Amino acid sequence: MDKSMSIGVIGAGTMGIGIAQMAAEAGHKVIVFDTRKDALEKAMAGLRGLMDKLVDKQKRTRAAADELLGRISIAESLEYLAPCGLVIEAIVEDLKVKQEVFKKLDGALAADAILATNTSSLSVTAIAAACSHPERVIGLHFFNPAPLMPLVEVVPGLATDPELGPECVALMHAWGKAPVLCKDTPGFIVNRVARPFYGESLRLYEEGVADMPAIDAALRGVGFRMGPFELMDLIGNDINFAVTKSVWEAFFYEPRYKPSLTQQRQVESGRLGRKSGRGYYLYSNGAAELGQETTEHADAIVERVLAMLINEAADALFLRVASKVDIDLAMTKGVNYPKGLLAWADEKGAAHWLAVLESLQDRTGEERYRPSPLLREHGEKGTSFHN
Ligand SMILES: NC(=O)c1ccc[n+]([C@@H]2O[C@H](COP(=O)([O-])OP(=O)(O)OC[C@H]3O[C@@H](n4cnc5c(N)ncnc54)[C@H](O)[C@@H]3O)[C@@H](O)[C@H]2O)c1
Repeated sequence: MDKSMSIGVIGAGTMGIGIAQMAAEAGHKVIVFDTRKDALEKAMAGLRGLMDKLVDKQKRTRAAADELLGRISIAESLEYLAPCGLVIEAIVEDLKVKQEVFKKLDGALAADAILATNTSSLSVTAIAAACSHPERVIGLHFFNPAPLMPLVEVVPGLATDPELGPECVALMHAWGKAPVLCKDTPGFIVNRVARPFYGESLRLYEEGVADMPAIDAALRGVGFRMGPFELMDLIGNDINFAVTKSVWEAFFYEPRYKPSLTQQRQVESGRLGRKSGRGYYLYSNGAAELGQETTEHADAIVERVLAMLINEAADALFLRVASKVDIDLAMTKGVNYPKGLLAWADEKGAAHWLAVLESLQDRTGEERYRPSPLLREHGEKGTSFHN
């Protein structure tokens, strides 16, 4: 897979146009298709505007900007993608619609072309099942904004050719990204391991341990760029709640991922976050009125949220979702965590985190706090994740 390979992108929304830009930056010819002509035109105009800005700021020459734009063309139908060696789909998150597109692509592309999906929450295996050649279908999960966030989760489905994963990892390296290889399981790495950042923080609030500004401040205090409530307001409570619910359902109602009623009420009331002017915080002129920040119980808050995050990372490793290096890389490169969670676990030692979880489980009797067998093993033996 070299630069001479043309890349197709389907869906010119937030993710699609960012992916097209990256592929063109890496030197490929790119063909973009969207069923909505206005979406295509808007996306291309946005990209031209971005290039103009970079030229104005002298971050790029006019010639380089024009060359990049010249490598991207738009397609009037899926059939125009026929010359592409790799097509990346970034359309609406709906299994039926994606399956229809993959079925068409399967017939339209050369036999050795690769079909990738940018799905965040659907099964790559289920999307591939619509194709007569599922062995050439793979997940390439980029993060928003795609040109800036280095992480790409490379997700082979059940029927994917075993060589395709490493080939896509190499291609993503060539694009300057930070790829990780991960099993086709709900939430892949990041959207699975990150769940307690929100869930446990909501639980701490529900138990009255601290208010939202204090929880946000405590977690910012250990290096997270944003606290969980500010972040949920930025993502949108409707989106964050939907992701939580879909991961919980996809894991057959695993109690660790149970959604929060507090967040559900938030969504029901229309307090979606920044985009609606009010979420957990009130936004006037776009800025949050964060209110009083107190540091009461800061250590207890951090310990509890971190213990749950570390347990998720340990369990993802236990269930071979990805390697320990990739699990840590995913959280630092995909969601800007200050450290990898398994490396973080090793600082105090697994026994410490095991004790935090056991004490929570004793107190509540809840499965939610069940330690992963791998955390237990390291805790009991006194061994570390990274040795
Ligand atoms: N937005 C994010 O933060 C993010 C991050 C990672 C992955 N994703 C995933 O990427 C995909 C796209 O998300 P987005 O946020 O860019 O969506 P978006 O709504 O911004 O864009 C989707 C585009 O796809 C087009 N489209 C819909 N059906 C189509 C079809 N059948 N054929 C061609 N084009 C079609 C729409 O017209 C629209 O322009 C989803 O699967 C989403 O889960 C999103």
